[in-house]
Amino acid sequence: MNETIYNTTSVDETYAVGREIGATLGAGDCLALLGTLGAGKTAITRGIAEGYGADASNVSSPTYVLCHQYPAGDRPLYHLDLYRMVSADEELEDIGLEDFLAEGAVVIEWANLAGATLPHPRWELTIDITGENSRTLTLKRIE
Ligand SMILES: Nc1ncnc2c1ncn2[C@@H]1O[C@H](COP(=O)(O)OP(=O)(O)OP(=O)(O)O)[C@@H](O)[C@H]1O
Ligand SMILES: [Mg+2]
Repeated sequence: MNETIYNTTSVDETYAVGREIGATLGAGDCLALLGTLGAGKTAITRGIAEGYGADASNVSSPTYVLCHQYPAGDRPLYHLDLYRMVSADEELEDIGLEDFLAEGAVVIEWANLAGATLPHPRWELTIDITGENSRTLTLKRIE
């Protein structure tokens, strides 16, 4: 399987990886973020937003509002968090994931809580906690 692995030893390094990934995203792209509580999903989304061309200072966890939108020219970045969802697939359909993808790129925290609704192809980034300040990030393409 084709995957890219990054080992980071600080939030700043994770942020930099996010910037790199964000620069490659465009409208229609979906990035699923996997990893436990405090892995760094929101932290890397800040870098992703900056690389994408959005204002990264606005990025915060959309846990309670489900979706944040960060303007970036004519293709916004959408930031979703499925953590509190009872039925993630249904909710993704209800909020119109397809419509978001038609307009911009979508980053989804706790994407493992959804199933069939996640788009194909998509990017999947798994963040593993390997120490207090270290993380292993594995990026792969899901066809
Ligand atoms: N190398 C690293 N990369 C990313 N975050 C790190 C790193 N080292 C330490 N951290 C810390 O880990 C925490 C990551 O928090 P963050 O909110 O981004 O996690 P999360 O995966 O979004 O959690 P949640 O599931 O609650 O949404 C931050 O407090 C950050 O400072
Ligand atoms: Mg988070």
